[in-house]
Amino acid sequence: MLDLDAEVLSEHIAAITDWLPLQTPPGRIVDLGCGTGAGTFALLDRFPTAHVTAVDSSAEHLQRLRDKARALGLEEHVRTLRADLDGADWPDLGTPDLVWASASMHHMAHPDRALRKVHDTLAPGGLFTVVELAGFPRFLPASAPEDRPGLEERCHAASDQQHAEHVTHRGADWGAMLAAAGFALEAERTLTVSIDGSHNEAVGAYALAGLRRIRGSVAEVLDAEDLAALDRLLDTDSARSILRRDDLAVRTERAVWAARRD
Ligand SMILES: C[S@@+](CC[C@H](N)C(=O)[O-])C[C@H]1O[C@@H](n2cnc3c(N)ncnc32)[C@H](O)[C@@H]1O
Repeated sequence: MLDLDAEVLSEHIAAITDWLPLQTPPGRIVDLGCGTGAGTFALLDRFPTAHVTAVDSSAEHLQRLRDKARALGLEEHVRTLRADLDGADWPDLGTPDLVWASASMHHMAHPDRALRKVHDTLAPGGLFTVVELAGFPRFLPASAPEDRPGLEERCHAASDQQHAEHVTHRGADWGAMLAAAGFALEAERTLTVSIDGSHNEAVGAYALAGLRRIRGSVAEVLDAEDLAALDRLLDTDSARSILRRDDLAVRTERAVWAARRD
């Protein structure tokens, strides 16, 4: 999922790295909750001389990130660090010029504490970039599927209800939280993503993986006919498979905050 997200949204991630309010290219970067490296590699693309410390609690994600770094010949520029950012002991991250956290801050149990830690870690004048999703991307038009229109929204409503208590900081007011942690908020923007998926295999694969994941959390609570329609979409052998549709798109929003340590 993370790799497909990075592939499909690569242009949008590049638009964010281009937009960052930086006077000089950062030498030391930290990617917090780096996953499989969407941000790490986009940042190295933009700032090729930088060194990135990629931090995540998932050993599996970090292994994949290291494999990618090797395949790209970037091992010298990437250091991975396994750490639980909710833990009492914040890892030693040096004094980076830029800290990047994409779709990771809302996972923190105590984001206010994490933001203060980032503030104290950054070099004076350093920049912290928080990227958050407005929600999971939508792929189907509202009229789909023909026998159960609006199915995707109903799946998301059910899934959001299931996850509400686990991911309480999704949609938080990060600008206010950054200011409370001592940052000077320098810039803020929202990117509207709308990608035509009609001739894009990665979009089909992304939609399939996303809806499969959602099925896992909504199967118990979804209306039986909705579940049957969802299963038809997910059945790659079915004529009604999501992979056979020519009306897929990726529609989502990304919000970005750039905050400075004075
Ligand atoms: C939605 S993914 C985003 C990954 C990546 N930043 C991207 O934009 O593709 C969230 C990541 O945060 C990591 N994460 C969640 N809670 C964490 C914690 N307490 N400490 C470290 N990493 C954490 C997860 O393992 C996951 O890789």
